[in-house]
Amino acid sequence: MGEPEGAVPLSPGLTVALTGGTGFVGGAIIRRLLEDRVRVRALVRPASLASCFEAKGLTWIHGELGDRESLRRLVEGASAVIHCAGSVRGACPADFEPANVSGVERIVAAARESAGHPRLLLFSSLAARSPELSDYAASKRRGEDALRSAAQGLDWTILRPPAVYGPGDREMLPLLQWMRRGILFVPGSGAGRLSLIYVSDLAEAVLCWLMNGSGLNGCFEPHDGKAGGYSWEEIRGVARELYRRSVLRVDIPRPLLELAARLNIPASRFFGYRPMLTPGKVRELCHQDWVCHDEDFRRAVNWSPRVGLAEGLRRTLG
Ligand SMILES: NC(=O)c1ccc[n+]([C@@H]2O[C@H](COP(=O)([O-])OP(=O)(O)OC[C@H]3O[C@@H](n4cnc5c(N)ncnc54)[C@H](OP(=O)(O)O)[C@@H]3O)[C@@H](O)[C@H]2O)c1
Repeated sequence: MGEPEGAVPLSPGLTVALTGGTGFVGGAIIRRLLEDRVRVRALVRPASLASCFEAKGLTWIHGELGDRESLRRLVEGASAVIHCAGSVRGACPADFEPANVSGVERIVAAARESAGHPRLLLFSSLAARSPELSDYAASKRRGEDALRSAAQGLDWTILRPPAVYGPGDREMLPLLQWMRRGILFVPGSGAGRLSLIYVSDLAEAVLCWLMNGSGLNGCFEPHDGKAGGYSWEEIRGVARELYRRSVLRVDIPRPLLELAARLNIPASRFFGYRPMLTPGKVRELCHQDWVCHDEDFRRAVNWSPRVGLAEGLRRTLG
């Protein structure tokens, strides 16, 4: 990818501080940054040490978002701070708040206190566009608001990715595996359209932001390059062509999803897990417009996605 006029070349001593590095998206970002010899300092919670991996240029900072001292060590001397940690599962607002709202406030505060005034990148979600749908969506919007109100004088950017898929993802994997077996499950009426993004393209977008995205101070919706997103029929068509087989479309009626979601809440309390399928998630799944628009972001950071759905499925499922 060529550099646009005015692009800031990556300096060899660049250090990026990152939260969420033990997760699907954060791990992919770490690997991409290290490939370009950017040094990465990543926060890891004590309970998640098993998810750490070793790599040259990568340092794990043991700590919590609620612990000011560990955040100070994380961001000190960093040129940029990427807050990618986020709670994506939960039954109530309190499950989402620590990573998605107060975590943002604390990261911004740590960046403010750091002598180098690092640039900030917040991983929000396209869901934040419709905060009324779910506790998750509302928490992502509140995190954005927290950043905007506390970041005056700082250089900040918000990314709202659509559904992200790729190797290492656990949320979409079962659906993709069913599709390869010849069944596409479609939530609700299936009349909506959605954008998608392959994880390495998103990681590349972060690298381009690092190189070229100074002073954006705005909110962007990167996607895989399919203008107008996908209909479920288009997704089915891609799968049919890729797997050279018929793909049966199975529409799951909204009332059935709602019933399953309602039952999932007490089950999650009883068995002690954080639920993904909740009434709020059903409203998200049945929402008609999850289409991203990213021309401004692409131009600003000189990024183009490279992996369309067929190639992304091939790379994800082999
Ligand atoms: N995947 C998608 O389709 C998608 C789409 C749009 C936006 N996003 C956003 O992208 C970000 C990353 O998502 P992901 O798919 O990579 O999720 P993930 O695989 O579940 O990873 C979440 C990461 O956040 C960390 N985390 C969660 N709660 C935390 C807390 N209270 N304190 C510190 N760290 C915490 C986790 O750490 P532990 O390992 O310690 O739990 C993990 O590293 C999130 O902000 C999410 O909202 C994701």
